[in-house]
Amino acid sequence: MSHVVKKRKLDKSRQDRLYFDSYSDVTIHEEMIADHVRTNTYRTAIQRNSESIRGKVVLDVGAGTGVLSIFCAQAGAKKVYAVEACSIAEQAVKIVKHNNMDDRVEVIRGTVETVDLPEKVEVIVSEWMGYALLHESMLNSVLYARDRWLKPGGVILPSKAELYIAPISDPVVEDRLHFWYTVKDQYGVDMSCMSDFAQRCIMNSDITVNSVTVEDVLSHPARFAELDLYSVTVEELRAVKGHFRCESFGSAAVNAFCVYFTVTFPCPDKPLVLSTSPFKPETHWKQAVLYLDAPVEVVQDTPVTGEVSMYPSEDSARHICIHVDYSIGEQKTQSKTFSIPDWSSEAQS
Ligand SMILES: C[S@@+](CC[C@H](N)C(=O)[O-])C[C@H]1O[C@@H](n2cnc3c(N)ncnc32)[C@H](O)[C@@H]1O
Repeated sequence: MSHVVKKRKLDKSRQDRLYFDSYSDVTIHEEMIADHVRTNTYRTAIQRNSESIRGKVVLDVGAGTGVLSIFCAQAGAKKVYAVEACSIAEQAVKIVKHNNMDDRVEVIRGTVETVDLPEKVEVIVSEWMGYALLHESMLNSVLYARDRWLKPGGVILPSKAELYIAPISDPVVEDRLHFWYTVKDQYGVDMSCMSDFAQRCIMNSDITVNSVTVEDVLSHPARFAELDLYSVTVEELRAVKGHFRCESFGSAAVNAFCVYFTVTFPCPDKPLVLSTSPFKPETHWKQAVLYLDAPVEVVQDTPVTGEVSMYPSEDSARHICIHVDYSIGEQKTQSKTFSIPDWSSEAQS
């Protein structure tokens, strides 16, 4: 039976409903709080910024369970507005009370774009990063909060985000492509003619979220974009782009790129970096893997160059697309556009 799945463009309120529903369940908050690299880096950054926080008014954009708001109160904030749009706000109220912080942390249920705070704030804290940094487009809400509620000279935690790319060789893909050549030995049926089809299916245009092993990274990663949260605009987020150049470490077959990000917290001594690099301890963001149409052989110092462009999908502004123009060695420029697969059944008809 043939089965056609057609993508439907979702209106903004439906996109937002699906998005906020995804944060109403315990699982995602469990995953985030259990991500020790993430949660502990925020905690340390807030503690190290206690000079800027003590006695000040803080806005936590997208407070979730209220964990960052409580860190800020523990660092001496006079008042924390914990703004959260979805029903997890009810749990945040309980957690705040349970920690005897309800005199300083006020949970406000609503979107940061619609709530009315009684005063402007000196500090904004937010954990807004999605897969490949920009998936979910939550940074737009932080920028709204900055422009509407942050006093001049106020602090944003984190204050900078950077995006990186590196060519990789995913051995699982190599094995899966090779598999069709092994069937004849096992069962006496030659299925090697499946290899082109397998390649098209496996090396598709989905952004795959996966943990990349250090040994599979084929060059030093190249930074292709930097966002200064004090100055970047919503308009600039409509296309975040930049060039890259890498040189391969040795002989291998490049079959994908991996994209990852860092965010940086200003600290009085030295900046603190939350990194999602494959060279650093794993986080729940893992890395975004973008498969080429076909593997390309490289040797030591083969240049891998190109341009990456990231922008919200036309179907849903909360979904990210990544377009890569790339050239490997002598190869002429190739182009491929990747998107996050639809995980929600409501996004299909
Ligand atoms: C990545 S989670 C972080 C939660 C919490 N700050 C933490 O660190 O565990 C982002 C949260 O922001 C909320 N959120 C996203 N956009 C928002 C907006 N415009 N206004 C209010 N809350 C928002 C989501 O519902 C979600 O709970």
